[in-house]
Amino acid sequence: MITEDLIDSYEDESDTDDPLDPFFAEGLITNVIRTEKSGKEGTVFCCEAGASTGYDLLAVKLYRPRQQRNFKNDAVYRAGRPILNGHDARAVRKKTEWGREYAFAVWIGHEFATLQALKELGADVPTPLKQTSNAILMEFIGDRESAAPMLSQVRLEPAEARRVFERLLFNIEQMLAHNYVHGDLSAYNVLYWDGKATMIDFPQTVDPRLNTHAFDLFSRDVDRVCRYFSRYGILSDPARIARYHWGRFLRSEL
Ligand SMILES: Nc1ncnc2c1ncn2[C@@H]1O[C@H](COP(=O)(O)OP(=O)(O)OP(=O)(O)O)[C@@H](O)[C@H]1O
Ligand SMILES: [Mg+2]
Repeated sequence: MITEDLIDSYEDESDTDDPLDPFFAEGLITNVIRTEKSGKEGTVFCCEAGASTGYDLLAVKLYRPRQQRNFKNDAVYRAGRPILNGHDARAVRKKTEWGREYAFAVWIGHEFATLQALKELGADVPTPLKQTSNAILMEFIGDRESAAPMLSQVRLEPAEARRVFERLLFNIEQMLAHNYVHGDLSAYNVLYWDGKATMIDFPQTVDPRLNTHAFDLFSRDVDRVCRYFSRYGILSDPARIARYHWGRFLRSEL
């Protein structure tokens, strides 16, 4: 349940009392079942879905108010991301109040748009339904009793591990082919449910055509995935895999 404290802490982000109101108003959710997780960027709630959505359960990812968020590494991910005009660019750089607000909105909008695009191209991500100024409504991975565990929390059978490893690498390659690098991929940002791995947490995703750090971020994503699967005896050469895909990306062969 949403506590008074939590609502208070989000109040300055919204004109309404409850940041979940827009989802209730449209009948997209009918009840908050529980707080799933309070992470560094915000809180995720498990909600009962409205009948019109076609889902039983939905997840709301509510972002932490911008003053409490850490924008330290923001510049690495933002490098090369298009900004509308000179005024906005200056404001973001100088961290004025407007600039902060702008960066916050862009960050959330970026996660939602990325989820939409990735879903469309068939990647294994939760289906996004709606976005407000501080929250995203998406498919819930898990069931009424519990959310799907992170890959870091499960122990896979060897054959299962091989299948999931290959599927994740396929996703990473497909994303790169469509100009997306996750940028924070690891066993903590992959949920595992019913034999299926689902990648989550996309606000920092970068465009490899524009971001000057993209190859490093891509290599780190590949490295973390390979490292996780090495515990199942799956041996791979992450540096080689990253260079191979990156080379094909540069030659437009993906
Ligand atoms: N669609 C979803 N279905 C079920 N659980 C989810 C969903 N999205 C997020 N979660 C849960 O909420 C947690 C936090 O989500 P996410 O990683 O997107 O946010 P975050 O703010 O980056 O949190 P963290 O700092 O823990 O990484 C996830 O680890 C997962 O347990
Ligand atoms: Mg996360």
